[in-house]
Amino acid sequence: MPARVLDVGGGIGVHAEWLSADGYAVELLDPVPRHVQRAARLAGVSAPLGDARPLPAADASQDAVLLLGPLYHLPDRADRVRTLTEARRALRPGGVIAVATISRHAAVHDAIYLGHYLQERQREAARAAAANGIPLSPGR
Ligand SMILES: C[S@@+](CC[C@H](N)C(=O)[O-])C[C@H]1O[C@@H](n2cnc3c(N)ncnc32)[C@H](O)[C@@H]1O
Repeated sequence: MPARVLDVGGGIGVHAEWLSADGYAVELLDPVPRHVQRAARLAGVSAPLGDARPLPAADASQDAVLLLGPLYHLPDRADRVRTLTEARRALRPGGVIAVATISRHAAVHDAIYLGHYLQERQREAARAAAANGIPLSPGR
């Protein structure tokens, strides 16, 4: 029986596609209807609408849970904790959780790297993101 992978916030299925081709049983969840419509066209991938909090998965039912995106869409810490708790609940003992995050300092690094940090609005936006983890559009 193939290993079961739950791709939470899997978008249009960038990872689900190759995981399914490699023989894993992949279910992708995403709250955006157009994403799951596209992902559902991938061979071997089921793609219901869903949210990371709560996960519609039974306890200990997954060999791997992917969180390659949802955490940086959840600015409230309580939501991120709930998301990680749910992933842990759905994972079988010894399974793997893969998580992507973006540091709150990324905007400062980006602004410096791109040479924008000398512009006051860009600098303010980057500093605001570093202070509370919530990106502020330079246009605001
Ligand atoms: C940057 S995309 C990453 C997509 C995919 N995992 C990848 O690596 O290509 C982030 C995804 O997280 C989804 N997302 C946002 N909030 C979510 C939530 N509360 N629960 C689950 N997924 C969420 C978005 O709809 C989007 O598809």
